[in-house]
Amino acid sequence: MRKEYLIAGNWKMFKTIAESREFVRALAKEFSAAPGLEVVVFPPYTSLAATHGLEAKIKIGAQNMFFEEKGAFTGEISPLMLQELADCVLVGHSERREIFAESDEDVNKKLKTALKFNLPPVLCVGETLPEREAGKTLPKVRQQLEMALQGVAGANMEKITVAYEPIWAIGTGRNATPAQAQEVHHFIGQTLQEIAPGSRIKILYGGSVKPENSLELLSQEDISGVLVGGASLKVDQFSAIIQNALKLLNA
Ligand code: 13P
Repeated sequence: MRKEYLIAGNWKMFKTIAESREFVRALAKEFSAAPGLEVVVFPPYTSLAATHGLEAKIKIGAQNMFFEEKGAFTGEISPLMLQELADCVLVGHSERREIFAESDEDVNKKLKTALKFNLPPVLCVGETLPEREAGKTLPKVRQQLEMALQGVAGANMEKITVAYEPIWAIGTGRNATPAQAQEVHHFIGQTLQEIAPGSRIKILYGGSVKPENSLELLSQEDISGVLVGGASLKVDQFSAIIQNALKLLNA
């Protein structure tokens, strides 16, 4: 039925180098590579070198980057450095936006710099609970997309993946229902077509994804994968989500 799924795990600020290596090795034993299945984990910076290239079927992404190539920016990591260590990079995660005050302008700069360095970005967007309750979900998501993608050349659009992560669903155990997620994914797909007609861009859902809700979420027409937080820290849970994607690919 379905041709491709991207199953991604954002580890946030969890796992030492040894734990990261052990996880990637153990996860690789749990599933077979299949056409159309892509698996990525986003470890903390400290674990990138130790996990990148460790298992061919598990790609490694970075959780963040700065938008300058080099310079006096103490504590920051540039896309030039990440090129050797990561296959892709998260941009604009809501925790970066909320806790570290990243603006839409920062997100736009990061996205363009990631593309310049051939680091495919995974752009995160999503509304807060008050915005959802006020009926502002779609305008908010549209605004985030438009601002993030400003000045991105059409030819680069397909290198981008979008992750829809409603903030009220992150780490709360309260996922968007499959219908709620599908509605926003469909809208994101339409908005992306307006911005870059004809482009094919994957749209992941993130926010309290678990083995139990992943099959139904992944079955939605406009959901091309998931970005998993908490459940990506446990091999059994993350591999159960991968198995659900494989079930749908083989259906
Ligand atoms: P949870 O799956 O823990 O809700 O986190 C989602 C997330 O933020 C992934 O980037």
